[in-house]
Amino acid sequence: QGLKDAIGKYCLIGAAINQWQSDGQVPEADALTDKHFNCAVAENCMKPESLAPAEGIFDFRVADKFVSYCEQHKLKVIGHCLVWHSQAPDWWFTNGYAASPASKEVLKARLIKHIKTVVGHYKGQVLGWDVVNEAIEDNGSFRNSHYYRLLGEEFIEIAFRAAHEADPDAELYYNDYSMGQPAKREAVCKLVKKLKAKGLRIDGVGMQSHNGLDYPNLAEYEKSIDAFAACGVKVMITELDMNVLPNPEGFGGADIAQNFELQKRFNPYTEGLPAAKQKEVDQRWLDLFKIYYKHRDQISRINLWGVSDGGSWLNGWPIKGRTNYPLLFDRQYKEKPVINEIIKLY
Ligand code: XIL
Repeated sequence: QGLKDAIGKYCLIGAAINQWQSDGQVPEADALTDKHFNCAVAENCMKPESLAPAEGIFDFRVADKFVSYCEQHKLKVIGHCLVWHSQAPDWWFTNGYAASPASKEVLKARLIKHIKTVVGHYKGQVLGWDVVNEAIEDNGSFRNSHYYRLLGEEFIEIAFRAAHEADPDAELYYNDYSMGQPAKREAVCKLVKKLKAKGLRIDGVGMQSHNGLDYPNLAEYEKSIDAFAACGVKVMITELDMNVLPNPEGFGGADIAQNFELQKRFNPYTEGLPAAKQKEVDQRWLDLFKIYYKHRDQISRINLWGVSDGGSWLNGWPIKGRTNYPLLFDRQYKEKPVINEIIKLY
């Protein structure tokens, strides 16, 4: 029995797939994907910096391979993402050779052109898009991104409108991290209600869920599931993983990457997790999935951010070169025993 046989009774269950896998270089990951998942997100290749390397140029080669990989492996495709402050091409924000910043009008036109081209290219092939990613800070204010500075909060409406025009059948989502934070929860609810009041389509809110052993606060996290559902949208767990390593204060990655002593301090389990730690990690997975099961009428998708521990971005973030254990399949592409416990919950 795979995860999809159990969890799939209630919602989609998937993973972020990296380019090595969708290019066909990781057969071990393919086997796990076939057994456990019924949907997928591209880990990087559908992001603006990948698709739009230079003005006037769209490069769909890698993303097209990902989409055909999904067809071949019977995975529903989720598009990630159309507008994000990170992994956006630099040229969006400048004119010519970075001589001057782009104007409000130019940025708006570029956003609309990008969204219409990309969503149009995959029309009918993508179930839903993360239209806007990470636009709100944990304190509930809008992130001071290029988009916000130039266009104000209207950039969000612009993006949702363009996406809907390009593929009226595609679902549209707002996606963000730390969604258990009360101030952020409130701001996201306000945004959803505002978009709906303006007659714009929004189908879901994605809770990234890059979790750790002591965050998020599960009671607050649950409140957010209820709150988003009460706004009349689907709730999705979109980037689920669990950082089991200690984090440096303030996530000050860059310096620590150069410092061997600190590297060791923040990379304690290179030889595997000690039994007691593994137990703690397994319990945390079960605590999360108990919540997902309890809220199975509200949650329409659970998506892990990667397939195997070895391929996880958390080996490189917030500190480079660590050995992390954030997913449900180990470095040998073996299922972790907790998977069966999760399946039993359903
Ligand atoms: C990450 C990828 O996993 C990395 O490979 C990449 O280097 C940086 O982005 N929030 C998101 C995802 O919405 O797109 C990010 O993915 C993780 C945080």
